Amino acid sequence: MATPEIRILADTVANQIAAGEVVERPAAAAKELLENALDAGARRITIDFSRGGKARMVVEDDGVGMSPDQAELSLQRHATSKIQVAADLDRISTFGFRGEALPSIASVSRFTLQSRAAGAEVGCEILVNGGRIVHRREHGMAVGTRVEVENLFHPVPARLKFLKTDDTESAHLIRMVRLYAVAHPEVGFLLREDGRDVFRSPGQAPLIERVREIWGKAVADDLIPLPSVEGSGMGVSGLLGRPGVSRSTRQDLVTVVNGRPVDSRALAYALVESYHTLIPKGRFPLAFLFLEIDPAAVDVNVHPAKREIRFRNEPQVRAFVMRAVLETLRGQSTTGAVQPVVPAVDIHSALPVPSAKPQVAAATPVSALPIAGEGSTRTSVSPATTLKLGWRLLGRLRGDRAVFETPSGMVLLDLGSAHQRVLYEKILGQLTASAPVTQPLLLPLALELEPLPAAALREREALLQLAGFSFEPYGRNFWRVLSIPLWVEPGEAEAFLRDLLAEMSRHEGDFTKAHLATDALAKLAIRRSRYRTDSLSEAELLELVQQLFRTSQPGVDPLGRRTYFEIGDADIARRLGQS
Ligand SMILES: Nc1ncnc2c1ncn2[C@@H]1O[C@H](COP(=O)(O)OP(=O)(O)OP(=O)(O)O)[C@@H](O)[C@H]1O
Ligand SMILES: [Mg+2]
Repeated sequence: MATPEIRILADTVANQIAAGEVVERPAAAAKELLENALDAGARRITIDFSRGGKARMVVEDDGVGMSPDQAELSLQRHATSKIQVAADLDRISTFGFRGEALPSIASVSRFTLQSRAAGAEVGCEILVNGGRIVHRREHGMAVGTRVEVENLFHPVPARLKFLKTDDTESAHLIRMVRLYAVAHPEVGFLLREDGRDVFRSPGQAPLIERVREIWGKAVADDLIPLPSVEGSGMGVSGLLGRPGVSRSTRQDLVTVVNGRPVDSRALAYALVESYHTLIPKGRFPLAFLFLEIDPAAVDVNVHPAKREIRFRNEPQVRAFVMRAVLETLRGQSTTGAVQPVVPAVDIHSALPVPSAKPQVAAATPVSALPIAGEGSTRTSVSPATTLKLGWRLLGRLRGDRAVFETPSGMVLLDLGSAHQRVLYEKILGQLTASAPVTQPLLLPLALELEPLPAAALREREALLQLAGFSFEPYGRNFWRVLSIPLWVEPGEAEAFLRDLLAEMSRHEGDFTKAHLATDALAKLAIRRSRYRTDSLSEAELLELVQQLFRTSQPGVDPLGRRTYFEIGDADIARRLGQS
């Protein structure tokens, strides 16, 4: 076979190939145009599109604009005003840096660039079709730039085939513009589809207002401020979802680094980890997280569409963000829009006030904790129905739920979840106390184990001792259990241990880090605890609520499910058609 001849590709072909990477769909083209407008210092940006951006999209800005020469140059491959030398790649502070976006888009569409530089008398217009210049001429316009892209991908039918329906492409485009608008509250945005407003938001809006305009009131009401924190050469600020509010996807987990909305595994991880126990496993918190960091500490040049970034020191960024987020969440207690002011220790009645610390000295097994319905507080209590946080008990709903009147509406509380939160913190408190609170077993428990759980016991014996178990080896895979933690009932000890060891051999990782291990232990203990809500007296029920509001996170149970929700008076009136 003859040696094939090697040729340099014509520019148009090279651009079309690059277009495959840079602009995979209309939303990606719109993103490039939007980034150019922001790089040009625009204060107002208007985006209009039709048929998901396939038929037409226009991005118009009031930025610095371009002279006719610059405009022509901007359509050349690798023409950029943003970086000059390779070293600049290590400290990119603009969105653009490759000088590829405009020529790529122009090579696969009918492309009209209009621009007028600040100080110039008049603007210019360049029309390009499938990468070839059709005309250049003067054009009267205000300072700024307007780019119109029609029939995207028509010159490359193969790509056209990969596009989804108009609705899907339009959803991608709208999502992209929302992200940039929220990342830049200082810039005014107007997004229109076929001439109709999708959203309009004036510049200079505080972040929460911007989120309300663009993401909607329901999302905005579920957010709390993340006060700005600085340190280690970084700064973080933004808005965080309330504990207990979660989503099945990352749709409302928005991370912005130096003004660039990005997917960052490090940041998503830091957020999900911070909400550990505050939302159910496998779900995602809400967040609008803004990180400012030295551009030299970020690599934005890792993805052709610049969607992903990498931090040079990932662990440091993760730790910094987690600290700030945890700090904010710690002060938070509830999932509802209304924050009851707690913790008020007293109920109006003469209930004995339990000490704030768990009373570890008294040998009270879990099942006999005052809240567990075993009757320890039932005597001597006059049932008062009002809690100091202003909740008045109205009654029970099917045994395991309670309904309260509150100063701002009504609350429905799940008694089982409330009990689990209280118990969880009690057990965690005992687990992390310096000396474990143990009870010796009158009759040592003989424990013969299968090889896997036996290995788990040998490996994690130190942890188990820390929790209050003590063992004596008795033979191969055979132990005698001499004492158990106070929070395990002796009659339950064997079943509990077997469960625990099975769990340990199944979920290796959870038990290797101290804080995860105690947490896993506490959760397991809770799963095994039996709790009868229907036998609770009214006083016990109120005592439970009072204890709940003394925990660090009254709004959620240890698995991150809500313990209660509030329906506001306004909402009730609305449902009754009275407002
Ligand atoms: N809206 C605009 N206002 C002013 N100048 C612009 C605008 N859009 C593009 N330019 C100029 O044209 C140049 C080329 O733009 P293009 O998007 O192709 O490349 P880039 O932004 O430099 O890099 P990248 O390919 O990474 O986006 C820019 O560097 C900028 O100087
Ligand atoms: Mg660009």
